[in-house]
Amino acid sequence: MENFRDHVNPGFLEYRKATSVEHAAAAVEWSDAGPNSYRDVNGKEYLDCLGGFGIFNVGHRHPKVIAAVKAQLDRQPLHSQDLLDPLRAMLAKTLSMLLPPKLEYAFFCNSGTETIEAALKLARAYNPHKQTIVAALKGFHGKSYGALSVSAKGEFRRPFGALLPNVEHFPFNDLAELRGKFEWLRTVGEDVGAVLLEPIQGEGGVNIPDDDYLRGVRALCDEFGALLILDEVQTGMGRTGKMFCFEHYGVEPDIICLAKAFGGGVIPAGAVVATRGVFSSLFDNPFLHTTTFGGNPLACAAAIATINVLIEERLPERAAVMGERMLAGMKAATQAYPELVVDVRGKGLLMAMEFIDNQTGFELGKLLLDRGVLVSGTLVNARVVRVEPPLTITETQADYVCEQIAAALAVMANQREKTGV
Ligand SMILES: Cc1ncc(COP(=O)(O)O)c(C=O)c1O
Repeated sequence: MENFRDHVNPGFLEYRKATSVEHAAAAVEWSDAGPNSYRDVNGKEYLDCLGGFGIFNVGHRHPKVIAAVKAQLDRQPLHSQDLLDPLRAMLAKTLSMLLPPKLEYAFFCNSGTETIEAALKLARAYNPHKQTIVAALKGFHGKSYGALSVSAKGEFRRPFGALLPNVEHFPFNDLAELRGKFEWLRTVGEDVGAVLLEPIQGEGGVNIPDDDYLRGVRALCDEFGALLILDEVQTGMGRTGKMFCFEHYGVEPDIICLAKAFGGGVIPAGAVVATRGVFSSLFDNPFLHTTTFGGNPLACAAAIATINVLIEERLPERAAVMGERMLAGMKAATQAYPELVVDVRGKGLLMAMEFIDNQTGFELGKLLLDRGVLVSGTLVNARVVRVEPPLTITETQADYVCEQIAAALAVMANQREKTGV
């Protein structure tokens, strides 16, 4: 804690629910503990319902992903950048087989943020006469200047001065508003080149659109000649009950961004996959957008193994089934407390509980931590608490989480009754 305070950032100690005085010693994570849990330095285990906001879709340290990475580590960890590296090509081909046929070309990088940077540059290079990018309110895409420009949280943007020009925002899940945006931007001569959004907003509070919303967005993009960029950094790789979230909604993007769980929870990795037409602006000069470490052999080995595991173990299907079970359990656990809980929602294993205020959500997070369950959403806004376990979570573990939510809420309700608050 002292090293964090003195050399990382003292502010973290304010925010992390694991670092209050009473949890001082228990706050330090040390290892994974099986596929779905962490262990701290004192040996206490925490069931992972947070996992880097959705990194561990195939579970922690999946043996096949670890084996692929170890084998690659022994052969060649990093690449020359000049000879052709075979795993990158195999991964790109695998993605093109997994995605709709028109999504043919992939660029690899190390994080979700970098996928957004690449997607924005691809969109602008594709259509230099339509530089305006519109992105959804409550969207989150990362914190580099480009990704921050399309993200919507004022708190994260305000301190950093001028961001990218020609970026506008629109309210999520409102087609009339989006049409209006297209129209007035056209009127002032700033035609929209691309629409960027998460199919389900993660950081924004697990906001699930109406069933026909994304189809409507696609139709507007087609009508106005704009690209559709889907940020599936959090929703992709099986999280919502399909390999990619767009599959629920019968739409196909022109560009898709993948990261987080893409590296199997072992190696940081991201991919942006686009149509041939969009990607071809990089054909003449592939050095227009590059990265030293993106698509390195370790990351590609991890991603290929991850895709295999997701398919072999039918984890997207499992996410759908377990998501239904957990959502029902969470609804049952919370229904007696309408004075504390506003809503429980989710798709697959991307779920959330919305509380009446930040403090209530934060309290629940802390009580769950005591009971060995780690949930997310308590960084700067705990009003909506996310529950995002590995897709390998067992029935027993899922039920345990719901039981602990019920128990924690009972404690909170009791305390409030006693104190009259
Ligand atoms: C939807 C979405 N896009 C992009 C990002 C940024 O990814 P990264 O933190 O890997 O840069 C995140 C991170 O939470 C995200 O949830």
